[in-house]
Amino acid sequence: MFPDEPQFHRIVPRSGVRFAITVDGRQVEVQAGDLLISAILLHQSALRRFEFGDGYRAGFCLMAACQDCWIKLGDGRRVRACDTVARPGMSVTTGVVAVNGSANA
Ligand code: FES
Repeated sequence: MFPDEPQFHRIVPRSGVRFAITVDGRQVEVQAGDLLISAILLHQSALRRFEFGDGYRAGFCLMAACQDCWIKLGDGRRVRACDTVARPGMSVTTGVVAVNGSANA
């Protein structure tokens, strides 16, 4: 089962404009300068389902090398969450959490 707890925790507060993006149909607050991997994992524990078995993935290298953090933007583009900056109004689909908020089986 998908544990709906944050994988990341902000340990150093910083200033910056806060705005919302949509992740799997739910609004989450992010801060200007956040990468999508941070924006998403500050609110849930995974970025995507593992395609070769049960389980979830949350990125690995955090530097755009391993390809473990692919997510889909609202316009259909596939991007790496670890090298894409969150922008106001962005919509992201991870496939981890259904639009109604429940975990996808
Ligand atoms: S976490 Fe490795 S490419 Fe994004």
